[in-house]
Amino acid sequence: MYNGAMDEPPANWTILALETSCDETAAAVIRGGREIVSSVVASQMHLHERYGGVVPELASREHITSIAPVINDALAPLARGWDEIDAIACTYGPGLASALLTGVNAAKGLAWARGKPLVGVNHLEGHIYATWLIPEGTQPDLPPPFPLVALVVSGGHTALVLLRDHGDYQLLGQTRDDAAGEAFDKAARIMGLGYPGGPQVQQWAARATANDLRVPRAWLSDSYDFSFSGVKTHVLQEVERRRAMHVEPAKSLAELDPQATASLAAAFQNSIIDVLTQKTVAAAEAYDARCIVLAGGVAANGPLRELLIRRAPVPVRYPPITLCTDNAAMIGAAAFYRYVEGLQHDWSLSVVPNLRLVPHTRPYRRGDERQPPANRP
Ligand code: KG4
Ligand code: ZN
Repeated sequence: MYNGAMDEPPANWTILALETSCDETAAAVIRGGREIVSSVVASQMHLHERYGGVVPELASREHITSIAPVINDALAPLARGWDEIDAIACTYGPGLASALLTGVNAAKGLAWARGKPLVGVNHLEGHIYATWLIPEGTQPDLPPPFPLVALVVSGGHTALVLLRDHGDYQLLGQTRDDAAGEAFDKAARIMGLGYPGGPQVQQWAARATANDLRVPRAWLSDSYDFSFSGVKTHVLQEVERRRAMHVEPAKSLAELDPQATASLAAAFQNSIIDVLTQKTVAAAEAYDARCIVLAGGVAANGPLRELLIRRAPVPVRYPPITLCTDNAAMIGAAAFYRYVEGLQHDWSLSVVPNLRLVPHTRPYRRGDERQPPANRP
């Protein structure tokens, strides 16, 4: 773990980062861990929309065709091209194996061909480090202070993580069933709201005029774990009940009764964000956190941000919406701090679809008699 006693981070150290864990093909160039030189995201949303979720086979084929042009676009702003790149980073898990393979193999090929260090990054770690990035057009502020509690909420994950320092992760709680984003997506599908579900639920909830519905919360007391599948089932039962009252029950609830749909979307969203914020605040208090970081695709949810800020005893930091959903800039930021700790990967790096977030162990330290992995096999 980086303990602050090592070399100063190389301020201009520049990373080309790749991200292909799910349905976005992304490449970015990040300088000094925080400056976004370029960030390119090719979304596959149009491909998966009609299936109501990501189809792994389609995703991996699309990554293969998109990765080279996306990398070229990310490198385009560099006056000295490859000479400005000090290392290559990629997400190696968690995610879809066949999707991750494209990014990992592209990164290995480029690192080998160009003789650069290779740094593999955990996707969740990337989401947390999106908060370190300086959004375009803004002035740099201080990075989030340690210790901090991070709530990572995405389509595939819901995790409450304590960070005492860079790389010093302690998983406090996680979902026992559906991820928060998955619950948003499934509830949206049940109500007939379209894909991806999170932004749709937020928009419909904003239209609610009555506050007449209440969706239960799964508190799982004495634990920082979460459970969202019961909430989703409740939405399903409510939708079935209301559709049965109509003469055209085959239609979606959104088509049959927009007002009831808006109320249900609001009640569902309130249930999810109530539990997320209460547990995050409790963890921040229990561990004397100096700040709360909100990260992952669901961090784009406006009411979640507002409620957390209202309840939190410490400042809440979150990235702008474009950096909340999957991107490679966040992978470049996380890779920078890994590299500063002395961590890099060798050619045995492979994809780990169920990669866990664990504290970094340093295989060597720059300046140690033990040597970093060779740049070439
Ligand atoms: O981090 P992300 O882009 O991909 C994963 O790593 O999973 O997160 C995508 C998830 C989807 O489930 C999407 O519905 C959710 O983030 N999401 C939202 C919002 N925007 C995206 N959920 C709630 N409210 C939003 N505004
Ligand atoms: Zn993600």
